[in-house]
Amino acid sequence: MDFEKSILCIGAGYVGGPTMVVIANKCPQYRVTVVDINQDKVDAWNSENIPIYEPGLDKLVKKVRDKNLFFSTEIDKGIKAADIIFVSVNTPTKNYGQGAGKAADLQYWERTARQILANSGRDKIIVEKSTLPVRTAEAMGRILHETENGVRFEVLSNPEFLAEGTAIKDLENPDRVLIGSKDTESGIKARKEIVEIYANWVPMDRIIESNVWSAELSKLTANAFLAQRISSINSISALCEKTEADIDEVAYAIGTDSRIGPKFLKSSVGFGGSCFKKDILNLVYICQNYGLDEVADYWESVVKINEWQERRFVRNMLLNMFNTVAGKRIALLGFAFKANTGDTRESPAITITRELFEEHAEVVVSDPKALENARIDLKDVEDSIIFEDDPYKASEGAHAIAILTEWELYKDLDYGRIIKGMVQPAFIFDGRNILDHKGLFSMGFNVFAIGKAPLTHI
Ligand SMILES: NC(=O)c1ccc[n+]([C@@H]2O[C@H](COP(=O)([O-])OP(=O)(O)OC[C@H]3O[C@@H](n4cnc5c(N)ncnc54)[C@H](O)[C@@H]3O)[C@@H](O)[C@H]2O)c1
Repeated sequence: MDFEKSILCIGAGYVGGPTMVVIANKCPQYRVTVVDINQDKVDAWNSENIPIYEPGLDKLVKKVRDKNLFFSTEIDKGIKAADIIFVSVNTPTKNYGQGAGKAADLQYWERTARQILANSGRDKIIVEKSTLPVRTAEAMGRILHETENGVRFEVLSNPEFLAEGTAIKDLENPDRVLIGSKDTESGIKARKEIVEIYANWVPMDRIIESNVWSAELSKLTANAFLAQRISSINSISALCEKTEADIDEVAYAIGTDSRIGPKFLKSSVGFGGSCFKKDILNLVYICQNYGLDEVADYWESVVKINEWQERRFVRNMLLNMFNTVAGKRIALLGFAFKANTGDTRESPAITITRELFEEHAEVVVSDPKALENARIDLKDVEDSIIFEDDPYKASEGAHAIAILTEWELYKDLDYGRIIKGMVQPAFIFDGRNILDHKGLFSMGFNVFAIGKAPLTHI
């Protein structure tokens, strides 16, 4: 079959994979190829056991794989054949040299740009899908036009707003799609081509067109605002614990104000995920570079509160378990940074496990989807940590349970059965505020939730 367009995506990760799976499903008239340098990942995408867990993803892959969706490591070949190239490689925080710990590490992006240049014999549209510092498209444009071979590239920004755990829903029914280009004739023409792809399933009033710098900065700003709401409510949770106000009641009361709205007001052990911290620090770095130190400090405090909230959780455990957890078995229920994903990047569970381990606790980690990643995150202490799929077995003989991920299954566990197998007095620390605290208290648990007065028998 002849395809109307050949689309390539470089980077088969959490964004590139699901995004292209949805495009291939919605647009059978396009040939979609996803390439990656990681052979194992590509093999997994081509197997029964795809490399990431997202509700609904598996089914969509099976519908289109090897029909109009292909996964491969042949990057040069893919570039040559493509009309439009989405770049979705990782942009982690730089951990060396200038800007270490804050700036985005653009080496993967730059390498990709050079590879595109080396393999392009005709004009192409390059779409930034990765989250990048504002004005990266300019730098990329310069690299891409380094040689005088007459090939022209339009660099566009089409940041991805999907959230892990709901990626397919977000991609199929996005709040908006943002496409930024230069305001030149060729820039606008390229922008219309990308609009045309999304218009196959996204209503036109949800497709926002902007200049390229606005698109780049909007992604960083969106993540900064989302994380800021979490840090804001978490900061108030600490005050609730001191004053007997209840954080869920406060969140509900303020969330009914239509100017504030109810979303992202759930207090917790802290935010995780590969993006929030990295993107805020990147924003901080950019502001510092422009001499906007007050703006940088403002946003950096969002990250600081988050780190403080994680440490505060462990301090609270210690304090309430008679100032020592040494030799005590503690079952951590949940390791993924949020429910419905196996992703553990920047998960608060990593810090909490390590801190408890340093306190000589016997830590048992349990999660329905993230144990494989947890083992990788804890590689250096793997032999000292117990990994257990079954939350009942994990809790057997424990002094305390801590809920670290809001998996539905943890709401419905038989806590009456669990407490019988625990060392008494039994403690439960609900780091996600998802359990029935009064019910647990009446079973005999000493219950500590975030932003709520403790319910204790001791
Ligand atoms: N994960 C999210 O929820 C999310 C949401 C929105 C935006 N983003 C942004 O999207 C980008 C990608 O994030 P991700 O979570 O998909 O990352 P990821 O690490 O899951 O995937 C990136 C992939 O790129 C591949 N890669 C790196 N260099 C390459 C190269 N030169 N050629 C080919 N492949 C290469 C890696 O092997 C990896 O498989 C980041 O900039 C991130 O900030 C992520």
